[in-house]
Amino acid sequence: MKYRAAFLICGALGLISYSLGATVTLTGRVIDNSSPAVPITGAAVSLKVNGASTTTSTTGQFTLTATVTGVTQTGSGGISTMQMLGSKLSFSTIASEKVRIDLFELDGRGAGALVDRNFEAGSYSLSIPGLMGKNAKSGLYVLKIRKGAENFIGTFMLVGAKGGAMSVACQNIAAAGQTFLAKTAASLDSLLVTKIGYVSKALPITAYTTQTIGDVILTTNAADAVIEHKIDSLMALMTINDKAGQMVQTQINSGSESDRLTDAQYASMCPGSVFNGGSDPSCPANTPAAWATIIDRIQTAIMNNSKLKIPMIYGQDCVHGVAEVAGCTVFPHDIGLGCTHDSALVAQIGRDVAAECAGIGIRMTFAPCIASVRNERWGRTFEGFGETPEINAQMGAAYVIGLEGDGDISQTGAISASVKHYLGDGATKNGVNNDTAWISDATMRAVHLPQYTACVRQKTGVVMISYSAWNHNGKSWAQSIDSYTMTTLLKGELGFDGICLSDWDGLLMACGAYNNSCVASAINAGMDMVMIVANVNPNNFINAVVADVANNTIPIARVNDAVRRILRLKFRMHLWDHTLSNATLRGQIWSQAHQDDARQAVRESMVLLKNTGSALPLLKTDKVVVVGPYADDMGAQCGGWTISWQGQTGNNKGIAGETILSGLKTVGGSTNVTYSSNGSAISGADKIVCVVGESPYAEGSGDEGQNGHTLDLASNNGASALISTCVASGKPVILVMLTGRPMILNTVVMSCNAIVAAWLPGSRGIGVADVLYGGTYNFTGTLTHTWPATAAQIPINTGAVYADEQKGTGGAPAFAYGFGLKY
Ligand code: BGC
Repeated sequence: MKYRAAFLICGALGLISYSLGATVTLTGRVIDNSSPAVPITGAAVSLKVNGASTTTSTTGQFTLTATVTGVTQTGSGGISTMQMLGSKLSFSTIASEKVRIDLFELDGRGAGALVDRNFEAGSYSLSIPGLMGKNAKSGLYVLKIRKGAENFIGTFMLVGAKGGAMSVACQNIAAAGQTFLAKTAASLDSLLVTKIGYVSKALPITAYTTQTIGDVILTTNAADAVIEHKIDSLMALMTINDKAGQMVQTQINSGSESDRLTDAQYASMCPGSVFNGGSDPSCPANTPAAWATIIDRIQTAIMNNSKLKIPMIYGQDCVHGVAEVAGCTVFPHDIGLGCTHDSALVAQIGRDVAAECAGIGIRMTFAPCIASVRNERWGRTFEGFGETPEINAQMGAAYVIGLEGDGDISQTGAISASVKHYLGDGATKNGVNNDTAWISDATMRAVHLPQYTACVRQKTGVVMISYSAWNHNGKSWAQSIDSYTMTTLLKGELGFDGICLSDWDGLLMACGAYNNSCVASAINAGMDMVMIVANVNPNNFINAVVADVANNTIPIARVNDAVRRILRLKFRMHLWDHTLSNATLRGQIWSQAHQDDARQAVRESMVLLKNTGSALPLLKTDKVVVVGPYADDMGAQCGGWTISWQGQTGNNKGIAGETILSGLKTVGGSTNVTYSSNGSAISGADKIVCVVGESPYAEGSGDEGQNGHTLDLASNNGASALISTCVASGKPVILVMLTGRPMILNTVVMSCNAIVAAWLPGSRGIGVADVLYGGTYNFTGTLTHTWPATAAQIPINTGAVYADEQKGTGGAPAFAYGFGLKY
């Protein structure tokens, strides 16, 4: 009622203007949720937009004085009582008020109005799953609510079985069991109240006036409080060298590489993390068991022989499954997963990947990539879910939930995500990898930051810092040494309490050497852990940290903060309880359930761009001739980051699964489905399935112009001749494209009767066949990129137009964002 009164008073006054330079004071008290409540000392209280901050006194009181600067504030309204408590939306009305609740999927697709009626004076508690009905799909949703003249927005995750009991899991989205729905219209700012060991709270501030906030109740996060005490105890035993060791991520040694640490060195250094990159030769026998043996060997050396016995956390690029290890389940690359728009499936894939990782001893994946890819010329287009922050937020958050044990990373089989590459990797000029983004702060925040907010809310353990740069504040800032993005934005505004991890030798790229000044600029900017490749002795980094702390170039408090973050993740993971690979989980590798999830993902990821003359679906009675070497090429359909960094064409790389050809034969029957790789034997066909595409690549090697990569589909790997041969036969031609990005489709390509974007589907080629044959399955995928009609149109993106973003020229795209046909 107190808040309501405030609303009425402000409402009666209407719009209020504030003069710049005015000083306002907010007072209140922070207490915990025990009974009787205990005041919380030392809680940080700050205004998110204004920036003013203070901490609470020993009686939990705060007095926050803020000077209103930089903006002219107008607004009305008071603090709202609209909140989510568990699965229920609670609010009250004091007179008859109209309430409309609209539901959207996180990518903005409307799922309909849940409520649109008058509510008489009273208090209400509406069950969201109840309103959504029993056909509701699991996933992330956005609620937009209008109550009288007020607007609210909130996000929640619906979990449970379709047709069965559903519930809202929102405890990771904001306060445990209590999600304040931010007011969208009149809210000028938020009052952030945080204290380690408690769940943070954000209260909307609708007017810069001197006001009494009253009691702010923080819910105890008992587990976190215990963890902070454990960290204190452990850090009290650590020397500066021990601390610097925790900040190292060093490369794996199979036991024989001369440029890597020996087991004795691993034990004496006690690195925070060990990793392998895309093409690491460190495991000659590329099997899950062989990798597990080596990773366990290093961990055992550390646990048996190091002074403090802090387990290392092992990291690897499991960007579409543990695809570098033969025999594991290879899922579609993220561009395909984006097109599924199925966050529940993506969360399930996260669970599958985590189990396979933990089976091998991998406890951190350098994934998911949540780049808003704004230029298809970039060779990493396929690594992101699409061009908008919304799709990357939706899918990235779901992936993190799945990888990290559905909110409890201590679970057996949960691993840490490392969302990447922060910040603006998909914004670089001309789509050149590892280059500079030339966009304003406002555009960066609008297009590239929201997905990090979403993943931080889901408690991603790690954020990988991009090796690219962003030009802001008059300078090109390598992200590895950018305190604005790491400390001000990520740790400050977003409240990230995990680890900032550098990318592959990111410090070398930023400032040239692991010397005192370079190391200081990265650590002082907010870097917590540094990925150091094999041919650099990690002791160079440790020596630099030690020297920099000794001469005060790096404050010891910064090192302590970095180490606290690293240990926090390890304690949250209960890493001491699961130091070694888990043989039971290893048994889940390529399990039927994982194969089925991968197959489903392939089905849902494909986008039908054209279908004329009933070319599709194929009928089981059709004589189908399959054309194109890529139809029978496991390497081509998996793309980069498979077995090796760059990936490679061809079969027999030990990848479990089946090619598209094999899948078509299984579904259509091997009598009716035949293969003519070069199209020389197609005369008996009722229909031709022609498979073409890009050859595999990764990172800058896939940028347009590098290694002959062109966005002209027909110029890729003989596609033009193959398609022409098929089209010339006069039979219906179904073109299946294996590409990591939208390509330019010339008139020959467009003359095919049906065109399917299959992206890089991974090792379940049968998923392609499932949908081409229709019957049971239809196309459901829709584009998460605007598909350019010409090269000149690139970059071309949906949504708001940002004046400072690069733009292509000329006309409408070939296919709009969200396009996708069905049977
Ligand atoms: C890439 C990262 C990757 C890392 C480790 C870098 O070159 O940019 O995405 O996680 O290597 O392999």
